[in-house]
Order: sequence, then C-alpha cells, then structure tokens
Amino acid sequence: MLVAEKLLNPFMKVCYWYISKWDRDAEVVFLNYGYVDGEKKLNLSKADEINRYPIQLYHHVTSAVSLKGLDILEVGCGRGGGASYIARYLEPKSVIGVDICEGAIKFCKRHYSVKGLCFSHGDALNLPFTNNSFDVVINVESSHRYVRMNRFLQEVHDVLRPGGYFLFADFRPRNAIDSLREQLNDSGLRIMKEQKITSNVIKALNSDHERKSDLIRKLAPRFMRKLAKEFAGTKETELYKSFATGKREYLYVALQKA
Ligand SMILES: C[S@@+](CC[C@H](N)C(=O)[O-])C[C@H]1O[C@@H](n2cnc3c(N)ncnc32)[C@H](O)[C@@H]1O
Repeated sequence: MLVAEKLLNPFMKVCYWYISKWDRDAEVVFLNYGYVDGEKKLNLSKADEINRYPIQLYHHVTSAVSLKGLDILEVGCGRGGGASYIARYLEPKSVIGVDICEGAIKFCKRHYSVKGLCFSHGDALNLPFTNNSFDVVINVESSHRYVRMNRFLQEVHDVLRPGGYFLFADFRPRNAIDSLREQLNDSGLRIMKEQKITSNVIKALNSDHERKSDLIRKLAPRFMRKLAKEFAGTKETELYKSFATGKREYLYVALQKA
C-alpha cells in the first residue's frame, strides 16, 4: 500500500461525511475520477453535462453488456449519480444502489425520484440480498476500501444469477494489480474483458480539474481544501501524480458467472 493511501483512508471518511453535510445544493453526486475515451463524446442531456467525466466512467464500465430489462445492483453507489445515470439512460428493469455510508444513502433516498431506482444501506462484505437476485453487479471505485476483497467477490458471486455479470473498475498501487487479478480469477467468475484504463482516467482528471477546483473553493473551508483536492484528485495532488508516474493503476474488468 502506498504511504499516501494509508494516510488517505481516515481522510476519505471525513470527506464522505463532509460532503454529506455541506453539499446542500446536491452539486456532488459522483465521487469517481472519471473517464475520457479519445475524441468520443457521450450524448448527454444538458443537466448531465456537468458530470460528463464521471458519467463516462459508468458508461465505459457498463458497455460490456446491454442492461436493458435487467435487475442491477450497484455496490458502493456513493451519492447515487451512477445508479441514476444507469436507470435513466440504459433501460434496466430495476437498479438498487447500496452503500455503507448512511449519510450517502439518506441523501440518495431524498434526492432521486426515478422509476425503478432505489437505495439501501449495506456493506459490500455482507450484502443484504438473497442468492441469485441480480443479473448484473456494478462496482465503481469503491473496492480499494474493502478490508476483505475475497469476501466481497464471494458475495457478488452469490447474489448474481447464473449467467449474470460483474462489472468492476477501481485503482490499486501498481504492485497490487497482480494480486487483484488473482483475486478476480479465483472468484468463480470468468473474466470476459480486462483493460488498464489509467490513461483514460488521467485525461478525465485533466479535463475536470477546473470544475473540481472551483467546487472545492466554493464548498470547502480553507483548512479542508488540501484534503478535498487530494480526495478529488486535482492535478497538484499526490493522488494525481501517483497515476501519472504509474505508481498507481486503474483497472476495468468485466466478469460472468457460469
Ligand atoms: C469513491 S466513492 C465512489 C462512489 C460511486 N461509485 C461513484 O463513482 O460516484 C466509494 C464509495 O464506496 C463506499 N464504500 C466503502 N466501503 C464500502 C463497503 N464496505 N460497503 C459498501 N460501500 C462501501 C463509500 O462509502 C463510498 O460511497
């Protein structure tokens, strides 16, 4: 684990709490670093344009399969922007977003009113669902915080229906990528597609730098700004540098249950 990463984890908790408390106008509905795919631009409504880069990460993660008519579970949904995007754009039958942060789930329940979309408090390591309940499980930039990744993968395997998909994206220190791949390989799910997307994420961090910096100036008091920037991955941060120097890598994997 990188030193910065060890230091960040308690800070992350403070950030999640802080966003829940102070983002009164619901300007922060995504907590991921985003994705840019060359010149390709996703067609989005005017209201969603502001969240283009984090939405593009969800779009890329879900691009391996059509979600039309399927029951979807998102684990680590945060403030629900991704689950809402999926429900509004990808025609699933249902989407449930789960997160361990009660404040985030309370926010989601208050903020969204989309047909087929709901939210529930829960832990990735002990999912509150019966076996074979979902066609697709989605997990975006959340698993780096799980203390037992193998346990999470077992839970995913159990709640998926036979033939169901697990769509996963997250970062790790470069020297932990092989063990993540091993964990995914040992999950009982078959890897259909794997891609390092670090360069796409860096492009998104570059493109979204100004917006995030403005938002931090607006929402965070001075003493919190350095921490908030680290959380957001703006260009001057250790986090950004760790991606740029290859110390940390971002992986996208699509898997299927037999
Ligand atoms: C960086 S945020 C990403 C949120 C969302 N996926 C997005 O892209 O906007 C990571 C989320 O994972 C959640 N999380 C961390 N550990 C968890 C666990 N054990 N079970 C469920 N959610 C967890 C955090 O509360 C946080 O909302």
